[in-house]
Amino acid sequence: MKGIILAGGLGTRLHPLTKITNKHLLPIFDKPMVYYPLMTLVEAGIKDVMVVTGGNHAGEFLRLLGNGKDFGLKEIHYTYQIGESGIADALRLAEDFADGNKIVVILGDNLFESSIKRYVDKFEKQKEGAKILLKKVKNPERFGVVEFKKGKVVSIEEKPKQPKSKYAVTGVYMYDSKIFGFIRKLKKSRRGEYEITDINNMYLRKGILSCDILNGFWTDCGAFESLLKANMLIAKNKGLNLRGLL
Ligand code: G1P
Repeated sequence: MKGIILAGGLGTRLHPLTKITNKHLLPIFDKPMVYYPLMTLVEAGIKDVMVVTGGNHAGEFLRLLGNGKDFGLKEIHYTYQIGESGIADALRLAEDFADGNKIVVILGDNLFESSIKRYVDKFEKQKEGAKILLKKVKNPERFGVVEFKKGKVVSIEEKPKQPKSKYAVTGVYMYDSKIFGFIRKLKKSRRGEYEITDINNMYLRKGILSCDILNGFWTDCGAFESLLKANMLIAKNKGLNLRGLL
């Protein structure tokens, strides 16, 4: 299986921090943000990774990650997304890299406390389709949210005003090669993006989407509050006494 890290976008919710660098290069405690999703992939046994970036500071990724050897990668590839048209649009650029293999996609601003290896291993064995990882959250309206019926996921809504559950779709997605055909069929959403939620719903309607509920903490770092939270979670995880600090 090959890995893809999505690290593009302009990060406008984090202005002025992101006027001078890419969001995914901002510090999370003692490392640049993108290290965390990269380490999550490496730990899950992924050896071949593509970074999709964009914006004004894309060159810095090369300086930081080099040829990937320091992270134990066999190869690291880079590609550049022009404009800001969403997660599914960024994935379009990875079709040749995927080359018919299954892929595991991770958003460059998503932090996972626990290993995702067992989900990746499960997906290796899944005959076809896709897998998403869910997490119960307090503020589901900020995310893609699933609706359950009789314990099964029956629909996914992107940032619903009235969420049908508290289970958010986290930023790890696993797909077979059908994804690229699905992306070609996509239309832009009301917010002007090619939505990954629409792709997941296509797999769901075909009955080939599996869902697992994630262990450990999960957060994104796309806004000031979640950026601070991510820093605190990682610092605490590394044994820093936050109470003692303040
Ligand atoms: C994106 C997805 C959303 C998902 C979230 C996870 O949202 O569209 O479905 O729950 O990532 O971080 P965005 O960060 O683009 O608002």
